[in-house]
Amino acid sequence: MKIQIINGPNLNLLGIREKSIYGDADFNSYFNSLIQRYPDQQLTYFQSNNEGEIIDTLHEVGFLYDGIILNAGAYTHTSIAIADAIAGITTPVIEVHISNVYRRESFRHKSMLAANCKGVIAGFGLDSYRLALENFISK
Ligand code: DQA
Repeated sequence: MKIQIINGPNLNLLGIREKSIYGDADFNSYFNSLIQRYPDQQLTYFQSNNEGEIIDTLHEVGFLYDGIILNAGAYTHTSIAIADAIAGITTPVIEVHISNVYRRESFRHKSMLAANCKGVIAGFGLDSYRLALENFISK
């Protein structure tokens, strides 16, 4: 299957940023471990701090790929534009979060995206991405 992982703002700082919340692994190492673990899957990864680039990537892959795993970071809680992009494409999107957003500040409890997604996985650390991948490949 062709699966695109998209990470949004500040997720380029994984392994450096707020380690008590997000852990000390960087995403590129984690992504390489996913490639090793799932050699039969076509996994691609994109990160951007810019809302428009996230939307452009959703448009680019969203009619071609089998699944999209999206951690939109703080845009999760604010972006009607990303919500509309998810609604406008045909590829199913799973929203993921590294942290359990429901144990954190109340502004993180609201997702603008979730209603347009296949489902949401939050709170399992980087394993949230693998759990989303398992959902796509088990279908
Ligand atoms: C996050 C949770 C968001 O609230 C936050 O803004 C992030 C990361 C997570 O993966 O836990 O940047 O999406």
